Amino acid sequence: MQIRTLPDARAVALAAADAIAAVVRDKPGAMLALPTGKTPIATYAELQRRFGAGAVDLSRTTVWAVDEFAGPTRATPGTNSVFYRTHLGVPLRALHIPNPSAQDPDEHIAAFAAAIARSGGLDLCVLGIGTNGHIAFNEPPSGADAPARVVTLSPSSREAHAESFGGLERVPPRAMTLGVADLLAARRILVLATGAHKAAIVRRAIEDSPTADVPASWLQQHPDCAWLLDAAAATDLR
Ligand code: GLP
Repeated sequence: MQIRTLPDARAVALAAADAIAAVVRDKPGAMLALPTGKTPIATYAELQRRFGAGAVDLSRTTVWAVDEFAGPTRATPGTNSVFYRTHLGVPLRALHIPNPSAQDPDEHIAAFAAAIARSGGLDLCVLGIGTNGHIAFNEPPSGADAPARVVTLSPSSREAHAESFGGLERVPPRAMTLGVADLLAARRILVLATGAHKAAIVRRAIEDSPTADVPASWLQQHPDCAWLLDAAAATDLR
């Protein structure tokens, strides 16, 4: 894995936007997976700024979400559907997000993952990391072979979303996620982590042996995975 430590979150956002723009410049019809969460918001704002300046064009690029809550509607504040509408303000060829109100979420997310594979697979999968080591919504324990599925969210994941849903009791207990196996199938992976609250889990994901207890640690097995860290998130690295 390639580990790049940058001074601050702003520098991470610029470097992430550079990486995404480079993939799309090489292959305008690229397939990208892009995450939700607080971390990538500055990256998406930077992409929007570059689009406005005519410096990047994603109009032939297809974007796939990596996860979505199960149960609410596409209009429910806090869902990934609302997140992308709010934060990903660049014209795309297509944006695919699992339907949170799918009748059969297990079948729905399996079909969603199958559609990615059938369309040629992901050229770049951008990920964040949860404080418990989750990637997308692969909560611990998740093996490297974990498929797309419905998961029960951990207390820490639900707490992280309490504000956006307007209260902890409103955060759905379950979510749909691409599996660790689907994420590892991407041709390139870029992981973003910023802030001191990520330092301990970043160290475990990068330096400890891969384990289902830290799903992000499976990324060590990917042949082309890069981490972009700010100084605070890199503090514990030896
Ligand atoms: C979220 C998402 C993940 C994301 C992670 C980190 O709940 N399911 O895809 O990477 O948690 O979020 P944040 O960037 O807010 O720390």
